Amino acid sequence: MAVISKGLEGIVANSTRLSDVQGEKGQLVYAGYDINELAGKVSYEETVYLLWHGHLPNRKELRDLERNLRSRRDLPQGVIDFIVAAPKSSNPMDVIRTAISMLGLYDTELEEDINVDKNRIRALHITAKIGVIAAYFHRARQDKSLPPVREDLGEAAHFLYLLTGDEPKPEAAKTLDVAFVLHADHGMNASTFSARVTIATLTDMYSAITSAIGTLKGPLHGGANEGVIHMLEEIGSEDKVEAYVDDQLAQKKKIMGIGHRVYKVLDPRAPHLRDMAIRLTEELGDAKWIRMSEKIASLMKEKKGLNANVDFYSATVYYSLGIPTDMFTPVFAIARTAGWTAHVLEQLADNRLYRPLSEYTGPEVGKKVAPIDQR
Ligand code: COA
Repeated sequence: MAVISKGLEGIVANSTRLSDVQGEKGQLVYAGYDINELAGKVSYEETVYLLWHGHLPNRKELRDLERNLRSRRDLPQGVIDFIVAAPKSSNPMDVIRTAISMLGLYDTELEEDINVDKNRIRALHITAKIGVIAAYFHRARQDKSLPPVREDLGEAAHFLYLLTGDEPKPEAAKTLDVAFVLHADHGMNASTFSARVTIATLTDMYSAITSAIGTLKGPLHGGANEGVIHMLEEIGSEDKVEAYVDDQLAQKKKIMGIGHRVYKVLDPRAPHLRDMAIRLTEELGDAKWIRMSEKIASLMKEKKGLNANVDFYSATVYYSLGIPTDMFTPVFAIARTAGWTAHVLEQLADNRLYRPLSEYTGPEVGKKVAPIDQR
């Protein structure tokens, strides 16, 4: 009988030069750099360059990349019209997924998709536009004006600017930039795998990123960060944490932001986000959330031997930056676009269709078709 690895656990689906997740060691590496070496030292744009080109940019290369991204922020009018017309109650991830898919309609050269240079330009367009799409929808659903895009701000600062309409404080922009770096890539995670499966059929890059966004949306992947805030709100105060955790565990329910398929020790991104969350909540004078989070994390470690993952503290960081809860997964998507597009380019450079097998467990063959009135 075939050996099935449910959820493809332990299966190596491909090789990649982009990132390495060492679950036993709790190590994340982007193209040879430990995430602890990169976090705080390089910008999101430098990380994008690293993933797309395999080395960190020099000053000129970084300037060129920044110019190339900033000059591609404008959205086609049809996409803006869609964002404004979308139901205000829409999940922002659905709007982003549809808008990224729509960008393909405005790419007049889509038929020549296999061309590497054209795909590098598409990667620039998608990376430059995804934050604008997310922020514009958030403004449109509140009946607010859509500020014209600017070219004088980096990716994280520009997103915060569009979201709020105000110039972001440098510390806020820097914090979000570090969060972007920490979320930029993560081995063969579910959304990246979707992007690679999709592009491996030799379809177009917009289709691959659309698949990835739809996959990231789920609560077991990118959606967990929103679940963390909902959980903290539901618990309400520090003294109710233990009873809540016990109750969830008794009901065999999951605590959002805890546990990981690959990391068996601490997720290396979590301490960076934890430090940022502590700093931000101290500045804002509301340390309740982080104290509750710390208590949940230590209880889960004690009771189940499980650690906090990237989503656990990123939720408090985004919350403290004033980002609305349902925009947390979009923030993850914006940052992960670096990795998705890099994986699409890497897949295309040495492509083979993904086509696993399945074990049939249906009724034995031999059934006969009964006439419809007799079924
Ligand atoms: N809360 C409570 N128990 C958890 C848990 C959590 N967050 N995560 C895992 N467990 C428990 C499971 O109940 C199971 O316990 P059991 O052996 O007593 O039945 C055991 O740990 C293994 O869990 P399993 O769901 O098989 O692990 P997985 O590798 O399939 O799942 C996740 C990994 C990430 C999907 C899972 O940990 C989870 O759902 N976490 C919450 C969502 C989340 O934060 N996702 C973001 C990931 S970056």
